[in-house]
Amino acid sequence: MDNQLLTTTQAVDPVFLFIFAACLLLLIGITAAMVWFVIRYHRSRAPEPTSQAEGSLWLEIAWTALPTLLVLAMFYYGWSGYLTLRSVPPGALPITAVGRMWSWSFQYQNGKTSAKLYVPVGKPIQVNVESRDVLHGFYIPAFRIKRDAVPGMKNHVWFVATRPGSYDIFCSQYCGTSHSGMISTVEAIPADKFAAWLNEGPKGAPHPGLALLEKHGCLGCHSVDGSQKVGPTLKGVFGSKVPVTRGGKPSVVLADEAYLRESILAPTAAVVEGFPPIMPVTADLSEADLKVIVDYLKGLK
Ligand code: CUA
Repeated sequence: MDNQLLTTTQAVDPVFLFIFAACLLLLIGITAAMVWFVIRYHRSRAPEPTSQAEGSLWLEIAWTALPTLLVLAMFYYGWSGYLTLRSVPPGALPITAVGRMWSWSFQYQNGKTSAKLYVPVGKPIQVNVESRDVLHGFYIPAFRIKRDAVPGMKNHVWFVATRPGSYDIFCSQYCGTSHSGMISTVEAIPADKFAAWLNEGPKGAPHPGLALLEKHGCLGCHSVDGSQKVGPTLKGVFGSKVPVTRGGKPSVVLADEAYLRESILAPTAAVVEGFPPIMPVTADLSEADLKVIVDYLKGLK
């Protein structure tokens, strides 16, 4: 079987259509036969049984053999499709997808990260799926692929985008308050544009603090432009007076550097009024990165 020429969509769609068509034919056939029997053998038309047949060997062989062949065909199709989904084509481009509450981030071989999954058109992509906290599900309906992101476990999935475009990425496992907001897109672009994007120097890139916020998934809940999301905006927070609940008691704190650090390292110690205490701890945050982020937040007027 030549798996390399197949896309994941081509592996899944015929199986789905085959099973759907088989089910549809059975539904129509069984319903039609049932309606026919109800009318033909209604008591007013056939008050007494007309046949005393004890059995029919050929009929029994037929209704045993045909369904067996049908489900074996479903298994064969399903199994070969599954093999295609699990066999990453040689030369696939590896990209790591990291799920966390509640965003996806993507890491490329050269260390670059992004909030959208950029891929070159026509090249198979191996997505290594990881989770930093709870169970998430990496799901791209357009390419018929879905794989759980399990903490502490390595998982992978592959696809190839044959046409340029933007394709939805969802989280398919309920993972908390903003599960439904855990969305991103695949951006399939021509190979030369992708190479240019991947090697784009830090000049065109955002502030390192902003890049870190994106990398650690902070921007899924906090904006930097003043708009409110699941969490309060980060714009102008430094130096402001923030109403919080600390230890069950309301108070107002000055958002200085110590407050910013505490809010990142111990998110539930002082929770901003009007927001739920749901921010997860960012486990993989180094002291150096924390300093860059805090410096960035200080300048975010
Ligand atoms: Cu992540 Cu649902």
